Amino acid sequence: MSSIKKIGILTSGGDAPGMNAAIRAVVRTAIHNDIKVVGIKRGFEGLVNGEFMDMDAGSVSNIMYRGGTVLLTARCSEMMTEEGQKKASQIYKVLGLDALVVIGGDGSLHGAQALIKYGVNVIGIPGTIDLDLDCTDYTIGFDTAVNTGMDAINRIRDTSCSHERCSIVEVMGRNAGFIALWCGITGGAEEVLIPEKSHIDKDAVVKQILENRCQGKTHNLIIVAEGISGSQELANHIESVTGIGTRATILGHLQRGGIPTATDRMHASMMGYYAVKALIDGRFNRVMVYRGGKYDDLDLDEALDYKREYDDTLYEILKILAI
Ligand code: F6P
Repeated sequence: MSSIKKIGILTSGGDAPGMNAAIRAVVRTAIHNDIKVVGIKRGFEGLVNGEFMDMDAGSVSNIMYRGGTVLLTARCSEMMTEEGQKKASQIYKVLGLDALVVIGGDGSLHGAQALIKYGVNVIGIPGTIDLDLDCTDYTIGFDTAVNTGMDAINRIRDTSCSHERCSIVEVMGRNAGFIALWCGITGGAEEVLIPEKSHIDKDAVVKQILENRCQGKTHNLIIVAEGISGSQELANHIESVTGIGTRATILGHLQRGGIPTATDRMHASMMGYYAVKALIDGRFNRVMVYRGGKYDDLDLDEALDYKREYDDTLYEILKILAI
């Protein structure tokens, strides 16, 4: 018999398309197993302030196709302090929770980790568009963000092509270049600037553009990752040195919203289901991961310590495909 009778669930940090599918999967798997669910609003902020609601199967109807998170989210600075963590763990106890499901990115999983020492049983579900958690091959929201980026690039390409311009498109991703690389390959960019590899070498970019023009390209597309930034300055530099009309577009939060793709809904549904199964089996203080095509749960401390070396393959292929 499982010791789990009541769980809390929250979404924290930047929202990500697919979080709602994960909430739905957690709530319904729990109810199927006679476990009560308490939804905590606004992430850890809601836990610290005791903002919650009881959830039933109906409370997650018609949410899977919606972007964002129905539980709302926040970046909670109080959770960085011992006082905030103690308050959060006290509310957890007052609510009579046996475990807490935390859906979010790196910061949110560190928040969950901080609660373990106060006796909170946690399980994390990776939800961030950035794909910047080394312990897993997938984080919920990434696919939708890349598709949104690719769609925007398609549109920019139309006008860039018509005006024979150079377009700089800056995409989200914090300090990781995955969104940029994927948007670069799927959008047919000739250069991608990512934090893992480079700072902006404006003259190298200019040289590349001039070489490509000499080879017959009539317009150019450069993707800049958020972690590199400086897209407008780069555009100004390219235009002033080459005379080629250059425009910068920063996609920003546009990339974080929207209807989640099937891929995001699928990963979210599976991770939500397996997270509750792990709790029922008594596996606490874990994080759900997708590795080598399989779902698994890893010890949270080990998972957060895990560091993956940057692999240049995608960039190298992008450059070959851009000739
Ligand atoms: O982590 C997701 C993300 O969208 C990053 O790509 C970006 O750097 C950050 O969040 C923006 O955060 P905020 O919405 O708090 O400005």
